[in-house]
Amino acid sequence: MAKLRLGLALTGSYCCFGKLAEVLPALCREFDVLPIFSENAQRDSRFGQAADWMALFAEASGREPVTTIAGAEPLGPKGLMDVLAIVPCTGNTLAKLSRGVTDTAVTMAAKGHLRNGKPVVIGVSTNDGLGASAENIGRLLVRKNIYFVPFGQDDPAAKPTSLACDYDRIIPAVAAAYEGRQLQPILV
Ligand SMILES: Cc1cc2nc3c(=O)[nH]c(=O)nc-3n(C[C@H](O)[C@H](O)[C@H](O)COP(=O)(O)O)c2cc1C
Repeated sequence: MAKLRLGLALTGSYCCFGKLAEVLPALCREFDVLPIFSENAQRDSRFGQAADWMALFAEASGREPVTTIAGAEPLGPKGLMDVLAIVPCTGNTLAKLSRGVTDTAVTMAAKGHLRNGKPVVIGVSTNDGLGASAENIGRLLVRKNIYFVPFGQDDPAAKPTSLACDYDRIIPAVAAAYEGRQLQPILV
């Protein structure tokens, strides 16, 4: 049976690229992965050089990452993904998804994909998940065709409003979303 085609969209939570890279081989075994990088995810940071991260994802998936709105625009109309996973998803991208703002490669991919009634899976990674982003997470939790990788507080003592998804649950969350189900429990 053909593998599910998974758009794997990274946004600018640079600290989590390494966590995603750890599960990338398993994701690529399970799915036909198409990497997508937001414009901000394509910047160097103290967590590494953008070119190195992009090369890693390109090599593991066998596909050149999508990096622009123009590059992401055909993904929906041409039906090139079965599921789109946005992991790690910043507070910034959560806000845009919640309010219908489409000004990055990742939000463009989501818009085109949702247009076709297909599932988007969000893996949150933001220090204000229980702060300013909480409202956006709430809006997305009740939105049709939007699912979440189970998430929780990653450091309640030092970062009391921070939320992070469980990278080990990306695969089952994507499989469930493809079947129209939210993987439970959402809160870990
Ligand atoms: C070193 C560094 C780490 C960051 N980590 C996060 C993060 O974990 N979560 C988050 O929401 N924003 C984080 N940001 C801020 C985002 O990169 C910023 O909001 C950016 O506009 C996100 O754009 P995007 O969502 O289009 O990728 C970080 C910024 C820097 C410079």
